[in-house]
Amino acid sequence: MRWFGLCLAVLAQGALAFTDAEVHAIASHGPWPPAFKADPSNRVSGNAAAIELGERLFFERRLSVNGEISCSRCHLPERNWTDGEARALGLTRVDRNTPSLNNVRLQRWFGWDGANDSLWAQSIRPILDARELGMSAQQAAKLVRGDADLSCRHKKVFGALPAEDEQLLVDIAKALAAFQETLASARTAFDEFRDALVRKDPAGIEKYPEAAKRGLRIFVGKGSCNVCHVGPAFTNGEFHDTGIAFFIEPGRVDPGRHEGIRKLRASRFNLLGPYSDDPKRATATSTRHVVLEHRNFGEFRTPSLRNLALTAPYMHNGRLATLRDVVHHYTTISPDRLHSDGEAILKALKLPEPEAQDLVAFLESLQDGGGNYRRRPFAMGCG
Ligand code: HEC
Ligand code: HEC
Repeated sequence: MRWFGLCLAVLAQGALAFTDAEVHAIASHGPWPPAFKADPSNRVSGNAAAIELGERLFFERRLSVNGEISCSRCHLPERNWTDGEARALGLTRVDRNTPSLNNVRLQRWFGWDGANDSLWAQSIRPILDARELGMSAQQAAKLVRGDADLSCRHKKVFGALPAEDEQLLVDIAKALAAFQETLASARTAFDEFRDALVRKDPAGIEKYPEAAKRGLRIFVGKGSCNVCHVGPAFTNGEFHDTGIAFFIEPGRVDPGRHEGIRKLRASRFNLLGPYSDDPKRATATSTRHVVLEHRNFGEFRTPSLRNLALTAPYMHNGRLATLRDVVHHYTTISPDRLHSDGEAILKALKLPEPEAQDLVAFLESLQDGGGNYRRRPFAMGCG
């Protein structure tokens, strides 16, 4: 009976048949898109007026100390919310590569080092960072208080303007978060294939290019890529050392997750602090239990692999220019460059060139035909 089933599977899939274990692994990368779930720590999560206010603030250059830099300076919609730079440039150069904001609501930790535990807390960081928007809470609050449209919109979303500037800064960040939660990538060739495989639809299975199929087999098989790049968003949301050198410049290193945990614990804006709207603090469980270990030094968060075509260069410091370079990195990785106290998942894959190309073809099949975002015209008054 099992043999008969396997035969059917072979017939249905043409030249390249997947085993039950492979089908199971592939199915775990869907379905896509995942359903929306409001963030309990942000009482305006999913609120239409908050999304609109957040969108305005996201493109608002007056949210920077010199009036010239908005969030969209580095997170450009047409570049899948990145900037094409190896390391981002705000008021001055920052240490890391700008990540995409598509599907960002699915993260548990935010930033390459996970220094924040909510999307709204993460949205405060660039406003206050002297290298990015360079504002103080007072300056950000003054912008909203002094602008008729922004303060009208704020009142519509949150009720009265708060007396405390820091509370108003948090409100701004919660509106920004509500907007960013709406950014999602669309279905891809991979998702069509994955669903066809699950419902055993030969025509749907057939459509997916053979090279991508072969690359996918490496991804879930001997490449062990799906040990870390798991689930529908292709990330476990956790932190690893993949052997990317973390020198920012001679004599200065990026400690990654090690510093991220310190910052997270010290932050007044974390989910254990006074600004979370989750009364039971159930969302703070991971934050409460996070432990700092030596191995966290030089670890960075596993990125999603959806929609990579427009987000080059890659890795936390933009060190690798193309997807080909990333695959080359994994095929030649030296165990000496990995932490001795880290996990031993990675080893040089030594893939022959055609297989490396197949892996790239698979990664390219995770690209959608354009995200869901259409910028709304800002002509409408608050009223
Ligand atoms: C100077 C360029 C720059 C500007 C301006 C900027 N960002 Fe970013 N953004 C980055 C970089 C670089 C990171 C990665 C930060 C890190 O890991 O420490 C990042 C990370 C993020 C993340 C985390 C994404 C993730 O996957 O964890 C969010 C959310 C975000 N930014 C939102 C914003 C918002 C909202 C604004 C405006 C208030 C903004 N950014 C302004 C460059 C920028
Ligand atoms: C041990 C966990 C782990 C494994 C296994 C792993 N990755 Fe990664 N991957 C990461 C982490 C962590 C990063 C970010 C590293 C950094 O920036 O320093 C990353 C980055 C990437 C990127 C860059 C994405 C971006 O937006 O910059 C790609 C592409 C990628 N991995 C593909 C793969 C492929 C293909 C495999 C299998 C050959 C693989 N990964 C195996 C953890 C892993």
